[in-house]
Parts: sequence; structure tokens; C-alpha cells
Amino acid sequence: MDIQNEGNKVLAYLPFDPRVEFNIPKGTIYVRCAIENVEFKSRLMSGGGGKFCIIFNKQLLKDLGIDGEEKLNVHLDIEPDTRSPIPEPDQAPEMLNNEVLEAISNRTSIRAFTNEDVVKVQIDTILNAGLCAPSATNKRPFHFLVTKDKEKMARIAENNRYVGMLKSAAACIVVCGDRVVQGIPEWILADCSAATENILLAIHSIGLGGVWCGVKQSGDLYKAIVKEFNLPNHIRPVSLVAFGHPASKKTQTNRYEPAKIHYELW
Ligand SMILES: Cc1cc2nc3c(=O)[nH]c(=O)nc-3n(C[C@H](O)[C@H](O)[C@H](O)COP(=O)(O)O)c2cc1C
Repeated sequence: MDIQNEGNKVLAYLPFDPRVEFNIPKGTIYVRCAIENVEFKSRLMSGGGGKFCIIFNKQLLKDLGIDGEEKLNVHLDIEPDTRSPIPEPDQAPEMLNNEVLEAISNRTSIRAFTNEDVVKVQIDTILNAGLCAPSATNKRPFHFLVTKDKEKMARIAENNRYVGMLKSAAACIVVCGDRVVQGIPEWILADCSAATENILLAIHSIGLGGVWCGVKQSGDLYKAIVKEFNLPNHIRPVSLVAFGHPASKKTQTNRYEPAKIHYELW
């Protein structure tokens, strides 16, 4: 098996054509593999030129004890995972639908905005959705920093290449957690993430668009937020949502993946 280190990824190229070998002429190919008794499931990636590869993630490499080129000569057992292929949209199981489910399915990240402003009633509606999120032991540790200040948003954008969309956003909400109210760091992340998703769904549901930007603890973006909003020490920014009126229409793809659903046992 041809295994190559490419940047921070390790790619294992298959020595055969899985479309021919597994008789799967089109669509995503899911496989079940084993290397030295470590079993894992994967999705084959096209490596170009008709070649397919598996991306070995860090956990898998650790499980396999692969840490250097010299150990990369391993035998791979591989078979198609035909038990749970991704169905085409029209082959997904029958599902119910309503406005909430429609918003969940159709929400997509929006990173380009028109110059149109967002108004107070829209912002209040969005913030209320954030405050309605579930939280561990109902501690509700969230705080929301809101700004429509273009210069402030541009200054924050300068600190992180992943938040460039802030330069054209009409507004931004930074979702923070209070470390005094919720002392367990994992719950702060979970609570703020639940609030962030509620915010994104509310934004989508009122015809606006937005994107979730992660704020890594003590990273440049984190520091910029602390500075720009004058945050006290016990308030931890967890995510930033840039939003506004979408510059173009974007549609979401079918994401129903049976391979990710496990009844009773893995
Ligand atoms: C924890 C987290 C951090 C993210 N950080 C960024 C980010 O810094 N910049 C960005 O443009 N998108 C960011 N995203 C958005 C993802 O890229 C996006 O949700 C993903 O590509 C799926 O696309 P969708 O939102 O359209 O379904 C983040 C999403 C999450 C959940």
C-alpha cells in the first residue's frame, strides 16, 4: 500500500481501482478496514488520476502505532461497507417535515453579505433564540457580545484569516460562557455551542445568513475579542457568529448518512 505524508495528513493510496473491484461505478465509496487488528470505517477520497485513498487521522495513526515512514509497510484488509451507503436524496427514508426541521436541513454557512443593515427586532429575535438553548444543570452561563461597529469588526478580522467575512457582515455576536457560573469547561463549550446553533438557526429562519467561527482559547482571535469588548477574566468567548443579508443564495446538500447511525451496537 502506498502511504504518503502530505502536510498534516497521511494518505493511504489503494493499489487497485475500488470502483471496479467493489463494483460501485458512482457515488461515495464507504469501506470497512482492518490494519493489524485495528478496525475502522472510512470513506474513500479521490486522489486524482483514478486513484483512491484513505485519510488516516491522528487517532487512527496512534491506534496503529504508526509514527514514522519505517512503520508504514502495513497490510490493509478492506471491503466495501455496503450495509450503509449514502442514499441519493430521493432514496433517503421517509421523514416528517415542518418549519423547524426545514430550517435545520436548509441552514448553511453564509460568508458574503450585502451592505443592508440588520435591525433591532432581528437582533433581539436572534439573541432570544440563543438564550433559549439548553444548558447543563440549567446554569445558562451564556453571555452575548453584540456589535454592528464596522471598524471593530474589521479590527477583529485582522487577527484571524478564518473570520475575513466579518469585514462585510452587518453585525456579529460573540457567544461567551461565564466560568464562575459554570465551572466545568466541557459544559461551557457544550452550552455555548447549543446557543450558537440556536442563533444560526434563528438567523437562517428570518431570511438572514450567518456563519459560526470557532474561538480557540488564548488564540489571536480570542485575545482580540477580549481586547475589543473589554472582557473580564471569567468570561470565555467560545464562538463568534458573523451575520447579515446573504449576498447570494446558497443551498444545502443532502446530509443523511446511514453510515453514521448505529442502532444498539457500533
Ligand atoms: C466549531 C466550529 C468552528 C468553525 N470555525 C469557522 C471559522 O473560523 N471560519 C469559517 O468560515 N467557518 C467556520 N465554521 C463553519 C464551518 O466551516 C461550517 O459549518 C462547515 O463547513 C459546514 O458548512 P455549513 O455550515 O454550510 O453546513 C466553524 C464551524 C464550527 C462548528
